[in-house]
Amino acid sequence: MTQELTTPSPAPRAPAPRRGSGWWRDAVIYQIYVRSFADSDGDGIGDLRGACGKLPYLKALGVDAVWLTPFYASPQADGGYDVADYRAVDPLFGSLDDARDLIRAAHDAGLRVIVDIVPNHTSDRHPWFQDPELSRQRYVFRPGKGERGELPPNDWESVFGGPAWTRTERGDWYLHLFAPEQPDLNWDNPDVHAEFADILRFWLDLGVDGFRVDVAHGMVKAPGLPDIGRGEQAKLIGSQVLPFFDQDGVHAIHRSWRQLLDGYGDAHGKEVVGVAEAWAPSAERLALYVRPDELHQAFNFPYLNATWDAADLRAVIDASLDAMRPVGAPATWVLSNHDVVRHRTRLGGGLDRARAAALLMLALPGSVYIYQGEELGLPEVTDLPDHVRQDPSFFRANGQDGFRDGCRVPLPWSGELPPYGFGPGGSWLPQPADWRRLTVEAQTGDPSSTLELYRTALDLRRRLPGLGDGELSWQPAPKGLLAFRRPGLLCTVSLLPHLVEFPLPGRPLVSSAPVTVDGGSAVVPGDSCTWWAI
Ligand code: NOJ
Repeated sequence: MTQELTTPSPAPRAPAPRRGSGWWRDAVIYQIYVRSFADSDGDGIGDLRGACGKLPYLKALGVDAVWLTPFYASPQADGGYDVADYRAVDPLFGSLDDARDLIRAAHDAGLRVIVDIVPNHTSDRHPWFQDPELSRQRYVFRPGKGERGELPPNDWESVFGGPAWTRTERGDWYLHLFAPEQPDLNWDNPDVHAEFADILRFWLDLGVDGFRVDVAHGMVKAPGLPDIGRGEQAKLIGSQVLPFFDQDGVHAIHRSWRQLLDGYGDAHGKEVVGVAEAWAPSAERLALYVRPDELHQAFNFPYLNATWDAADLRAVIDASLDAMRPVGAPATWVLSNHDVVRHRTRLGGGLDRARAAALLMLALPGSVYIYQGEELGLPEVTDLPDHVRQDPSFFRANGQDGFRDGCRVPLPWSGELPPYGFGPGGSWLPQPADWRRLTVEAQTGDPSSTLELYRTALDLRRRLPGLGDGELSWQPAPKGLLAFRRPGLLCTVSLLPHLVEFPLPGRPLVSSAPVTVDGGSAVVPGDSCTWWAI
């Protein structure tokens, strides 16, 4: 049965005094999907040394931090989100020394480093799962239903499709909310808590500045593991509290991690952060993950899912800011990541719309996540042949989306032909032939390019005081247009399909498309965003 949506009030816990520099409150954080970013050794798979070599590019782009997706020892059943050893680097991606070098080089360049932590599940090759006795204590095993235990213990479905349970040779079943190679940990067991605290300290000692917490809403399951009573559960994720997602009990884990992060930060004179990848059914419930004594930020998936519609966007921006205000956390904004169709394709309006959406996002108060390649205006690759695909959700039909390889195609850096400077070998997924026009090399220095648009906007965002944090105030605007003030600028967004004219609001600072200034009026194209100096 689906649980009632209840929202514990955040009121009793008043925002704690701000500690540290608060660098994360307005940070622009660049997501490096390591295997597709840059390859140093020619095996066609991106690696840590490759990423290290591109830090000057990221510095020049103007971001504040990088988030590295999992590079730990893993059989790669789910792109590394199936971890077999949390303290080792997979040879595919390099070595611990490479990780150390990357962190040091990033710090030298003034960039902070956030790494992924995957606490909901491990790989089935993890030594704990491999041990028949230990596994029964540290994972979620249950006897089956039916006369001979031949039926799964309950009706839960995997996010990737199919039942969330797999039967073992012993005859019992284990839970995996994702692929069968990703058994769910049993967070009722104190050993699991102790192990993850130790893993966090391990990476903190290597110098990282924070953690992106995978499936931060999933570790605690409802007592008794009750049936849901409905099929197509993937569609309920994010709209309902489910017995396996967004249980109130997860917050105790986040509170203990916050203590650990603050304690470490205080002892080392730095501020380390936690970022929740949490799918919650409302902005209010999402805000619970970023109460002052929990994690620092949570991804704003409602914003990512908003349609290109003025009313929809305004509503989701307001709801995001309203929800974060009582808990004192910054809103975050994200358009793309390694799990969703790239926004150039998803928003349905091609490059013009993608550029406008990016400029709008960069004008919003809070912290912004940029997914590698969006600054090049990369589209989703929709024609990958089946034999090159690796996403487990593709192979489990009716899964979450089935398209996650198309946003993971390796980046084009330079040259006329694949792999476009991705590395000295090939690329693990084929790159389209027309990406030669989208390389970093082709776009650098071209003022009309998407890369230069991002660079200009990021530069302005850094230089205009107060632009990153704070509030925004909406201004009257004709239907189909959005207008809001931020410190030092007015941002207008046209969601119309045609040119529109309005009284000149100020001097154009940056625009996603050419604007015409004619006496006292401005004419902006459809699907465009402009920042005006006021
Ligand atoms: C969210 C990650 O972003 C996704 O790539 C992964 O498949 C799931 N969590 C499971 O770890």
